[in-house]
Amino acid sequence: MGKTRHGAPAHRARGHPDPPRRAEEPSRLSRRAARPPPPPPPHPRLDHASAPADSATPAGLEPSFGVWSPAALALRNRDARSEVVPRARRAYAGRMADTVLVERTGAVATLTVNRPDKLNALNVEVLRELSRPFHGLLEAAEPVRAAVLTGAGKAFVAGADIAAMSELSVAEAKRFSDMGHRLLAMLEAAPFPVIAAVNGFALGGGLELALACDFIYASANAKLGQPEVNLGVIPGFGGTQRLMRRVGAARARELVYTGQQLTAAEAAAMGLVNKVLPPESLLEEAHKTARTLADKGPLAVAAAKRVMTRAEDVPLGVACELEAQAFAALFGSDDQKLGMRAFLARTPAVFTGR
Ligand code: COA
Repeated sequence: MGKTRHGAPAHRARGHPDPPRRAEEPSRLSRRAARPPPPPPPHPRLDHASAPADSATPAGLEPSFGVWSPAALALRNRDARSEVVPRARRAYAGRMADTVLVERTGAVATLTVNRPDKLNALNVEVLRELSRPFHGLLEAAEPVRAAVLTGAGKAFVAGADIAAMSELSVAEAKRFSDMGHRLLAMLEAAPFPVIAAVNGFALGGGLELALACDFIYASANAKLGQPEVNLGVIPGFGGTQRLMRRVGAARARELVYTGQQLTAAEAAAMGLVNKVLPPESLLEEAHKTARTLADKGPLAVAAAKRVMTRAEDVPLGVACELEAQAFAALFGSDDQKLGMRAFLARTPAVFTGR
């Protein structure tokens, strides 16, 4: 990557804070696009006194830096997927923001981080807006059974927002990190699989986000890495830990200590990426797999995800006991009866999730 600017973090300090933005209310969504952006704040440091009492919000980080920009608006409107935005807005009235687009096709949801002018860098707002659809999807009358997470434009997510982070105090950095950890824990705890469709740069927080998904499909031109050491910091959203669990301690250490960027093929060779796909078929393939997952017994898939996620943190004996309990519990479900009877009757099983 000749154009990579890692190694010269000082260059990045030029990033300007975006204008502040208030929490959305349902009725504002349709009006927002026509509204000019408010003027930028004088300084990216935040006014603690103005922080809201939202427990999920790091106090002092509230007037988030990343907001709607005309460029992002234009790109979103060009995006074929913008067709679905009005539907998603109706489905999640008041809970969807423009920095994250939500599409629902049957039991499969697609979440797109939509801040392409900043390569989808994660600021407070994006972190918050990414968690909102998850609540919506969990509450939806027709449950989601699989999700695909991707990014708009040429990046999946190029990391946490360096401009927003550049002036953080120690306490603010801790709250920012905590907020990222909460989001990623929510992704891992979702009772349906989430596929990361890495369509370009997945660096820093972007790779961490992908690592919190169940597995990764990547386009052939994707770049993945944890370049934080180039900025004088370390991964702050679980990268040091999840990367070790995914690719082993030695490889993870090398990646984190060097900050090197992997090609999709290199990432696949070490088991970080499941499939490398031509860019034009990445989403199609991810959706195909998501639809396959959605047809399986949803209680079984959720139980497998829960057990396999928990198993990474406990001794083998405990993990096997967790598995035995989850296995047995499924025998109390309609789906187990339905699935096994369907097999014996040589008919396809149509699971109900009960
Ligand atoms: N945080 C904030 N802004 C970011 C960003 C990040 N992590 N990554 C990219 N951007 C912004 C750039 O500042 C630029 O904004 P500008 O046009 O207002 O200056 C815009 O996104 C496009 O990025 P640019 O660097 O011009 O694209 P590129 O194709 O030349 O390089 C990367 C792409 C990914 C190699 C480069 O942007 C980069 O190294 N980003 C930082 C990656 C990183 O260190 N992530 C870990 C953060 S902890």
